[in-house]
Amino acid sequence: MKTQVCIIGGGPSGLMLSQLLHLKGIDTVVLEKHSREYVLARIRAGVLEHGFAELMREAQCGERMDREGEIHDGFFISHDGVLDRVDLQKYSGGSSVVVYGQTELTRDLYEARDKMNGVVIHNADDVKPHDLTSDAPFVTYREGDEIVRIDCDFVIGADGFHGVSRKSIPRDVLTEYEKVYPFGWLGVLSRTKPVSPELIYAKHERGFALCSLRSQVLSRYYIQVPLTDTVEDWSDDAFWAELKRRLPDEVGARMETGPSIEKSIAPLRSFVAEPMRYGNLFLAGDAAHIVPPTGARGLNSAASDIYYLYHAMVAHYKDGDDSGLENYSAKALARVWKAQRFSWWMTTLLHTFPDSIPYDQKLQQTDLEYLFSSEAALSSLAENYVGLPF
Ligand code: FAD
Ligand code: DHB
Repeated sequence: MKTQVCIIGGGPSGLMLSQLLHLKGIDTVVLEKHSREYVLARIRAGVLEHGFAELMREAQCGERMDREGEIHDGFFISHDGVLDRVDLQKYSGGSSVVVYGQTELTRDLYEARDKMNGVVIHNADDVKPHDLTSDAPFVTYREGDEIVRIDCDFVIGADGFHGVSRKSIPRDVLTEYEKVYPFGWLGVLSRTKPVSPELIYAKHERGFALCSLRSQVLSRYYIQVPLTDTVEDWSDDAFWAELKRRLPDEVGARMETGPSIEKSIAPLRSFVAEPMRYGNLFLAGDAAHIVPPTGARGLNSAASDIYYLYHAMVAHYKDGDDSGLENYSAKALARVWKAQRFSWWMTTLLHTFPDSIPYDQKLQQTDLEYLFSSEAALSSLAENYVGLPF
């Protein structure tokens, strides 16, 4: 098989790039390790920044998002028994975010790829990139007993944190920066009315909590848990009781509870791999960088990688201009590190750290008091949360 751009990973990053390139007449093949049902069963991001939403529209996939997604102009931070609102519109100079689930936008991207006869190969086993520093790289995968070879000009590693692409870059080329947090998020999806029309990020001495949503009949809640906890340790009743304890009384009192339809634990990690290019392999999204989910930056950071790669590929194929490809890693990393800083800051502000000393707790309290007493601090939070320019 032959294509121009072989994309490893059929998550949002890979599908989005494939769709955008297709619309510019550039041929792609997407290789996804799992089935479509498996990919669509993962409940992950819920908050999209303006730039991501724009990219969905450019990919001709924004129609359902614009119809069913909710525009949010602000969110709450609860602390010390009170709710303080962050007015995103006011402090970001008129911007907002879209609440639309990653599952739904991935479904929209798959449907768009189907309609245009895009090649997305599922259950591709043993995917391996080869000859990445040559002019003729290729990717192989196993189909039953057969090894299939795809020749291409470029390989895109959009296969998430555990994928094969980053691991195929020699150790002495790559520098990895990592910070692992001593806790995870236990997430529950339930068919209940959300407790608040806008998200609530809750700081509490028992641990962080987040009240989010997918629609007015589908709630998504998270609580901070120790890394040693498992999903089996948390019955639905225990989850609801703990969530309510971490929220102001009046919020807990109006919380609608019900059976969980999904429950999972995600460990929190910050990670960046540099550079994001090796020969003709380009890394994008979670394959190159991970943030703790607190600032809702993960998928949104993937979007800026895709935006830069898309424009670089179009300039290469249409104008013979390779400057975008050459600058890709430096340009993408500059924005990635800003998302890292913001996610680390929001995580540090709102979580309870098992090893924190009284000095740390005083600083955390002061940071929060400063935030709600300073228009400059609120503007800094808002401009990062709605997304820095691409
Ligand atoms: P992935 O979604 O990981 O997709 C990679 C794909 O590659 C997968 O489908 C995988 O099966 C496939 N793959 C892996 N290995 C191979 C292989 N060897 N060969 C072929 N295919 C392979 N981000 C936000 O912006 N906002 C939020 O509100 C938000 N909330 C989050 C909440 C939680 C609990 C979590 C865990 C994450 C959240 N994120 C959020 C982060 C967001 O989900 C990720 O950043 C996003 O999924 C990255 O997309 P991706 O396509 O780069 O990687
Ligand atoms: C969601 C996840 C986040 O990390 C976040 O900051 C906001 C919302 C969510 O899953 O809805």
